[in-house]
Amino acid sequence: MADEKTLSNLRADGEVIASYQHLSELPLVVAGAHGPYLTDDTGRDIIDITAGACTMNLGYGILKGEEYASFPFPYASGLKQVELAKRLARHYPCLKPEEVRVGFGVCGSEAIDGAIKLCRAFTGRKKIVTFEGDYHGTTLGSVALTTLPGRISDRFAPLLPEVYTLPFCDETASEEDIDECLLKLAYMDYETIAGFIIETVQGDMGMLPMHQRLMSTLYHIAKSWGIAFVVDEVQMAFYRTGPFFAIENYADVVPDAIVMGKSLGGGIPLSAIMGRKEFMDSLGPCEHAFSMAGNSEACARGLKFLDVIEGAGFRETLEARMMELYDGLQRLEKQHPRAVSHLTGIGFAFGLWIKSVKEGESDAQAAFKVMYRAFELGLYTMRLGSNWLRIEPSLNIDREVLAKALSILNTALADYEAGRISDEVLTWMLK
Ligand SMILES: Cc1ncc(COP(=O)(O)O)c(C=O)c1O
Repeated sequence: MADEKTLSNLRADGEVIASYQHLSELPLVVAGAHGPYLTDDTGRDIIDITAGACTMNLGYGILKGEEYASFPFPYASGLKQVELAKRLARHYPCLKPEEVRVGFGVCGSEAIDGAIKLCRAFTGRKKIVTFEGDYHGTTLGSVALTTLPGRISDRFAPLLPEVYTLPFCDETASEEDIDECLLKLAYMDYETIAGFIIETVQGDMGMLPMHQRLMSTLYHIAKSWGIAFVVDEVQMAFYRTGPFFAIENYADVVPDAIVMGKSLGGGIPLSAIMGRKEFMDSLGPCEHAFSMAGNSEACARGLKFLDVIEGAGFRETLEARMMELYDGLQRLEKQHPRAVSHLTGIGFAFGLWIKSVKEGESDAQAAFKVMYRAFELGLYTMRLGSNWLRIEPSLNIDREVLAKALSILNTALADYEAGRISDEVLTWMLK
């Protein structure tokens, strides 16, 4: 069980940090970090197979800070913002950079709020449509679009009105499921819908790419009825699914805007909405501005992040790692058919679904035990959606570190199947 020093640090945390600040199920206190490793308060290095929930896509401490005085964006134009916006615009699927505008912000949730405002201002309509199981953030606007189980609370209702959710269909959905979803949409009166704001790949529900037919039908409905089409790529942008943006996995879909965040600022808070000029210009000066949005230091760090991921050979190496990860996870699935229920995901974003092997124990408890044992062995992952483990390594992870991570998961699963993980560890599990 946990080290005395760690327990004492966790007590100190509980005495001063608000409980809503983090969702922590492990006796982990982070004292530092380097490359793909978190270093805990006992000096132990732990591989972070979540890349800091994709906030640190190149691992920790790789992009060093520069001497850019951080000045707030809303009150002046800034060279670094313009440079970063230009570099991002080059990646817009099918549009020329001059057809694109970028608005910077501070976090993904706030950028989703901006997307809601843009959809409404652009169309003059109110309804926003999203999908069951989507995660879009925790501000009052973005949380209204978040139907991931357990994230919406009646205690802070009423939420934003005029938000509607459709049943999500991933790649495994049947034709009937998709027809049913589209029928629900048809009842909604297309002419009253301002925008679709959707996750291309549902991250927190297990890395589930939207079904190709659903995506392309939605897009064509949007085009035919003047509905804004916005994709939330806060988690999936920057080659995590293969192409620069996950939406590029869907042929001929050109969204009105793409929302980015997390590692965009190379480790400093930064988000962006990037979209068609006409769409983006539907908000006027300061209608979605924040004092620290797009500050020069974050944009400078964002440029360095792009320098690395656009660099020669980066994608090729990443693609090789993606194959290794997929092969490795498939092997785990085969080796542990009792404990691994299935594998979902794409590229460098996978969910490993765990099931219980013990009478009376829930799948959630089983997933927790595997996660806990992996942590004891030096691998950090998190349990989401109750019984699946998040596997989203940093994009530049070494082959050896990745192999080590997979080997730890293998041991943790074997220990779980053999009943070698004590029930005592469940005391750390959040309900
Ligand atoms: C898909 C998606 N959208 C939005 C957000 C919210 O971003 P932030 O936590 O920066 O507010 C997240 C965060 O996990 C996310 O994964």
